[in-house]
Amino acid sequence: MGRRPRLMERFAAFLPIGVDTPPLGLGEGFTPLVHARTLGRAIGVPQLFLKVEGQNPTGSFKDRGMVVAVAKALEEGARAVICASTGNTSASAAAYAASAGIEAVIVLPRGKIAAGKMLQGFAAGARVVAIEGNFDDALRIVREMTAEPDPRHPLALVNSVNPYRLEGQKTAAFEVCEDLGGAPDYLAIPVGNAGNISAYWRGFKEYRDIGVIETTPRMIGFQAAGASPLVQGHEFDDPQTIASAIRIGRPASGQLALAARDESGGLIDAVSDDEILAAYGDIARLEGIFCEPASAASVAGVRKAAAEGRIDPGATIVAVLTGLGLKDPDTGMSLATAPIEAEPTAGSVRAALGW
Ligand code: F0G
Repeated sequence: MGRRPRLMERFAAFLPIGVDTPPLGLGEGFTPLVHARTLGRAIGVPQLFLKVEGQNPTGSFKDRGMVVAVAKALEEGARAVICASTGNTSASAAAYAASAGIEAVIVLPRGKIAAGKMLQGFAAGARVVAIEGNFDDALRIVREMTAEPDPRHPLALVNSVNPYRLEGQKTAAFEVCEDLGGAPDYLAIPVGNAGNISAYWRGFKEYRDIGVIETTPRMIGFQAAGASPLVQGHEFDDPQTIASAIRIGRPASGQLALAARDESGGLIDAVSDDEILAAYGDIARLEGIFCEPASAASVAGVRKAAAEGRIDPGATIVAVLTGLGLKDPDTGMSLATAPIEAEPTAGSVRAALGW
């Protein structure tokens, strides 16, 4: 029995890596694809599958791309990485930089990052800069800081505008095809900065081009209504949503996402915060999977599209759950009720339960 491969080894033929690329890895990828029978029946699409990306090392899909981006940064001589983030990119960058023995600098919108994600950055020893502004401002700043190389601070930008990020993230599409034995009919995904939908589409196209799959899915992306520039067709100066991970008004990969939509015959739509929170609770209670609010936008979108008759109910649908629920305990409290009080005896607990 051999050891299990690392993500970068498993898909090396599809990645821009070589013998000089350091073999980083924290156990990213190989996440479960769960047939959501109960939830699927409840929303009228029984062939609904959930790609549980919260099971990555730092609890989000970002790790797939970050391992490649940080390995390439090391290979190219960087001694630090920098990123803007709504929280998950920064948690991932901090962890992989720690593992690589280099510095991480993360620039965040003050007060808008879920508590667990903040903690992850600090725990890994990143330097955290909070700005009075939103994600789009933070991304503008880090792009400006890395526009010209500074020989005193060899620095790599590891937002998804870094091409290695999308290369790594496309491996999730490969795994979906392998687990299903072919492509799904639809791939439903939350859209923020629009890198991930673009990465999945690239992965499906590559598997089709080499004949691993015969068809490609329709890409169906979902933004939060208060942060839906790709749906409304204009940038949002002040995006707002409870799904803080996708609170983005100027998606850097917007053009790639629109191309993925059009080439695949898909759609990009908006879901309200109420629809997101309803899906967030249902995924946890009906399937036992606790994802973060932004992730639930994929399922909220499937529910909406199915109700509007925009999805064939017999289709195979994969909804990507991009991040782990524990990252955002404050929103998680909306799912909590007060505990039932009891005396410390079995009889009292039984009585409290009404048994
Ligand atoms: N879901 C989660 C949990 C995310 O953290 C993000 C993006 C997305 C979905 C959207 O993916 O940006 O590729 O369209 N988070 C970034 C961050 C922006 O900084 O962590 P996208």
